[in-house]
Amino acid sequence: MTGETQHNLRGDYSRMRPDYTVDQEWGGYGEDAHDLWRRLYRRQESLVARYACDPFMEALAHLDFGQDIPRFTDVNAKLRAATRWELVAVPGLVPDLVFFEHLANRRFPVTVWIRKPEEFDYIVEPDIFHDFFGHVPMLFNPVFADYMQSYGRGGIKAHELGAIEMLSRLYWYTVEFGLIETPRGLRTYGAGILSSGGEISYCVESPEPNRIGFDLLRIMRTNYKIDTYQETYFVIRDFEQLFEATAPDFTPYYDELRGREPHAPSAVLATDKVYQRGIAPQRAA
Ligand code: PHE
Ligand code: CO
Repeated sequence: MTGETQHNLRGDYSRMRPDYTVDQEWGGYGEDAHDLWRRLYRRQESLVARYACDPFMEALAHLDFGQDIPRFTDVNAKLRAATRWELVAVPGLVPDLVFFEHLANRRFPVTVWIRKPEEFDYIVEPDIFHDFFGHVPMLFNPVFADYMQSYGRGGIKAHELGAIEMLSRLYWYTVEFGLIETPRGLRTYGAGILSSGGEISYCVESPEPNRIGFDLLRIMRTNYKIDTYQETYFVIRDFEQLFEATAPDFTPYYDELRGREPHAPSAVLATDKVYQRGIAPQRAA
């Protein structure tokens, strides 16, 4: 998640380097922290088996990090070998431009602190469980990994163009809350869902939310809610679709969208391809 809010941030920002990175200080986690990690992991493990996309499940098995809070240095050996990405430790949310610079250089910032036990089911700010469990397995997929780097480069450009709000909606509706079609029905690749105990079944099973075919400009024009389950999810066919749709220069898209009223999170438009009960809409042959 990008750091729109710079007030009241949790985490110790006093010892960070200029790029906001810190040492993970793995030895500093207590047994209570590791125990909380194990409980979060165990709860989520059974849920992702039913609702996560295959690349996530494959990476999860390969990583096998359910025992203790993972050491980033251990994970980096595997991640570098797979997709040339690496993890960097950060105190918490970082400013947008800092975040984009890391992604553009294939570095994924992971928060070092873990939530409190009473935040087991719900947490507002991303902690190590969200950042790690939700985001890191997807970085093992080569196409998604390239998409994340492109997003970082695009973020640096959007910053110059004053278009971060539009671009952030794309991150929200893909990297955090994206759904994907599979032969076994809809699955998720979004970290906000993958690390959530409740939304992970809701996003696939509930009759309430809209599930709409991926549409880049539509997404960049759609507001989102950060404190409830999503009212709308966007569905990709595969990661190639995501990568290819976002390859063009966004400058003319931003020009077109600027000044237009954003769509509400709950909006359904005449042009939307709406999935009924998880079934893909008919497409022209
Ligand atoms: N192609 C986008 C641009 O020119 C960059 C981008 C790539 C943004 C992938 C998001 C995801 O701004
Ligand atoms: Co996130």
